[in-house]
Amino acid sequence: MSLLDVREVVVSFGALRAVDHVSLELEAAQIIGVIGPNGAGKSSLFNAISGATRIASGEIFCSGTRIDRLRIDEIARSGIARTFQNIRLFGHMSVQANILVGEHATLHSGVLADMLHTKAMQSEERVATNRAIELLEFVGIPSSHAGRDARELAYGEQRRLEIARALAASPKCLLLDEPAAGLNATEKRDLAKLVRRIAEMKIAILLVEHDMSFVMPLCERLIVLDYGKKIADAIPSVVRADPVVLAAYLGVAP
Ligand SMILES: Nc1ncnc2c1ncn2[C@@H]1O[C@H](COP(=O)(O)OP(=O)(O)OP(=O)(O)O)[C@@H](O)[C@H]1O
Ligand SMILES: [Mg+2]
Repeated sequence: MSLLDVREVVVSFGALRAVDHVSLELEAAQIIGVIGPNGAGKSSLFNAISGATRIASGEIFCSGTRIDRLRIDEIARSGIARTFQNIRLFGHMSVQANILVGEHATLHSGVLADMLHTKAMQSEERVATNRAIELLEFVGIPSSHAGRDARELAYGEQRRLEIARALAASPKCLLLDEPAAGLNATEKRDLAKLVRRIAEMKIAILLVEHDMSFVMPLCERLIVLDYGKKIADAIPSVVRADPVVLAAYLGVAP
């Protein structure tokens, strides 16, 4: 079984099927792009995998464990982490604290230990703080920014901080929803390098992006959604020439 195995997933909003029987498989270290016109269901698919939205039918497995009926925190602990299309940081909290929020999913001391603030907890916190600094540097944010409020970071750095926070949960599978949105050409190039380095850590990456020049060289395969349905799943050069895909983007019949 694949690391991430999405089978015939349906997400409905009333009569609308935002995701309509979509299946996909993702292996460790793979970078797969999810593309499609606005409203195609890309974010809804990510919400389904990460547990933010309940699926109407279908099944989702991570490392062989069925996760679609788990709570959102259990899904995070099973190895799924994500970033959001619109940056969702705690702007008034420090950069470092934002990363620790992500790490919290994996800290082992229980609720009681949290309250008692035991030695075990304190030592876990110290390790977590060190790791937060490591992650900051890994995503290319100077560690001198650790104590600043997240909202003070430049836009591109905030996008990277979201990635650092997601990595803090030690995911097996990372879902990036339009990570390159709003970035300039240099920032996009750096982001592509970062995504490759994350994949080299054997993390599976599913990435939504509209900028074809960004996804084409980066992704091993592209999955195309249109009106909730998967209309293509192939290597980028094949997808680019697929008349059904072109028609979906141009809004005309193939
Ligand atoms: N919470 C919701 N309630 C009702 N309809 C929703 C909800 N979330 C999404 N939708 C609808 O589901 C469809 C898919 O939306 P989704 O946000 O998944 O698309 P997308 O491919 O991510 O689009 P974009 O490229 O604009 O981000 C759209 O028709 C959208 O209006
Ligand atoms: Mg979206």
